[in-house]
Amino acid sequence: MYNITLTQHLQGLAKKFKLGKTVNDQQFLTHFIANIDEIQAIFHMIYGQHPNYSTFFEQLLESIFETHAARSKALKERDEEKAKQGFWYLSNQLMGMSLYVDRFAGNLKGMSSKLDYLQKLGVNYLHLMPIFESPEGESDGGYAVSDFRKVDKRFGSNKDLIDLQKELQAKNMYLMIDIVLNHTSHHHEWAKKAKAGSKEYQDYFYFYDDRKIPDQMDETMPEIFPESSPGSFTYIPEADKWAMTVFHHYQWDLNYTNPKVFLEMLSNVFHYGNLGVDVLRIDAPAFIWKEMGTTCQNLPKAHKLLQLIKLCTEVATPGMALLGEAIVAPAQIMEYFGTGRFVNHECDVAYNATQMAVQWDALATGDTRIMLAAQQELQKKPLGGTWITYTRCHDDIGLGYDDYMIEQAGFTPYLHRHYLKNYYGGIQTDSPAAGALFAVNPKTQDARLSGSLASLCGLEKAIASKNATAIQTSIDKITMMQAQSMFVGGVPMLFYGDEAAYTNDYTYLQDPGKSYDNRWMHRPIIDWKKNAAVDSPKSVENKVFSNLQKLIKLRKSLKVVADLKNIHWLEVHNNSIIGFERYLNGEKVYFLFNFSAEPQEVTYYMLGAYGERATTMKDLWSGKTIQIGMDHDHLAFAPYQFYVLK
Ligand code: GLC
Repeated sequence: MYNITLTQHLQGLAKKFKLGKTVNDQQFLTHFIANIDEIQAIFHMIYGQHPNYSTFFEQLLESIFETHAARSKALKERDEEKAKQGFWYLSNQLMGMSLYVDRFAGNLKGMSSKLDYLQKLGVNYLHLMPIFESPEGESDGGYAVSDFRKVDKRFGSNKDLIDLQKELQAKNMYLMIDIVLNHTSHHHEWAKKAKAGSKEYQDYFYFYDDRKIPDQMDETMPEIFPESSPGSFTYIPEADKWAMTVFHHYQWDLNYTNPKVFLEMLSNVFHYGNLGVDVLRIDAPAFIWKEMGTTCQNLPKAHKLLQLIKLCTEVATPGMALLGEAIVAPAQIMEYFGTGRFVNHECDVAYNATQMAVQWDALATGDTRIMLAAQQELQKKPLGGTWITYTRCHDDIGLGYDDYMIEQAGFTPYLHRHYLKNYYGGIQTDSPAAGALFAVNPKTQDARLSGSLASLCGLEKAIASKNATAIQTSIDKITMMQAQSMFVGGVPMLFYGDEAAYTNDYTYLQDPGKSYDNRWMHRPIIDWKKNAAVDSPKSVENKVFSNLQKLIKLRKSLKVVADLKNIHWLEVHNNSIIGFERYLNGEKVYFLFNFSAEPQEVTYYMLGAYGERATTMKDLWSGKTIQIGMDHDHLAFAPYQFYVLK
């Protein structure tokens, strides 16, 4: 909506900030004018009651101008290129990898020499796990940040990060880093001042004099780390108060009812934008607003805050997309793409945690019906938003998809999850998978799962028992799981180490800063001698790596896999097989996956009834040509085989 008063105000600020007549400056102003009415409406809705509301609003506007003024020419040019492409992150050319800089390459400087390896694989989008200052031993893998602007010396310097960003940009690669929006480390200067008794800084967090409110809130707040950090509040002896700590006791939740907190954190968002970040991963966005009597997750005002951030970054750092790391129930994940008139004005990208989890479900049971049931929800993703698709990441695997999906497939939710936990969690001794239960809740027996891709797919046990057939089966499973993530729609995000078949690493148990968190079993320290084996034909590393390399090449050659709401799930009439059709501009490709350990078959009927199909098709994966039979003829699958049929 055009708001004349605010527009005139912005024009005044444009003079103050000496905006020129350049196309870029004019575009900035146009975007600002287009968004200002909504920016004000949301800011007012959340902070309108504050006595200093107008001052804070003015600060918000000025910070947007400052960010634009400070944005480099190179980044402004890149913004323009991205704007020309439209939704640039929907492209089939993107291929991501998430990695810990220290565990992968030693430090940021070391990353440079590893880019060739990544490019050889086909990766062009890097998610660097948190690199800002974080106290060793109380770091949650970097997600307890004590300084949002200072690269932790373990990784190098701020300059090293800037150099890496420039190198990536020159190589046409993309950079993603995190903003840990929900909390800070208790070593952050705000937390230190709060501990020392400053009321102003205690208000940056949720501080309580006694257990009265914490006890009431604990009633409805699910525990995130029930084993290592039970409850959601921690006693702070220095201040003789209780702080809200939803994650670990050393991660203090920020209080977004305080406009100062919002403005400080928005300024950090802008700072990352001006560092040249292409995609900003907003860590744990589901948690940023809290209200008594609720789970304190996915609340409407959490969405409003994200929309506000989005509207501001659309103006100030337009080339930077936002990824909302909301690992919540399927229907709730969907809301992070924005709802109503905010569709495409909240997060551009979200993790397809549901698809990831149902993949593991199908692999354990050999039954794909839950995966199919989940698509009813997943298909609702709006055009313009996209997924991170993945089989593994640095976190655990949650089994948080809905009970109705399990019931629709004919299973009992409690027993079904029990089966999965036994299968992957190191309990069922004859399971091929080697993993562990994570965050077991003693009250509810809920649990999530840890373990590396390779170990969960059976490689660890197969190698230990020197069973060549089992080794090959696990490679087939790894490849099929990765293939599905590659083609299902979204930006595939590999997890470092998985490309070279790393199995679980149990050395974390010797490190007291990590031993309480078994997610470290699947966060390997890269041994480049092992990775060199990706070039030794016949090695396991080589088989996994070269399959992945081939899949990535195939993905990049297929425009139909760009994420344009161009997917149709097939009814294949075989519970072990799942498939979808991807289509674009008259081109059609069918992707079919056998999740079972047995040979399977489906009739050609599933490719389109009554003969509306080609007589021969090429399997782009194996290179073989397939004669397509009559409706009742069969396409045969070996265990864990998949087809890419064109
Ligand atoms: C996110 C991260 C996870 C971390 C949590 C708290 O979920 O992925 O690793 O523990 O946020 O910051």
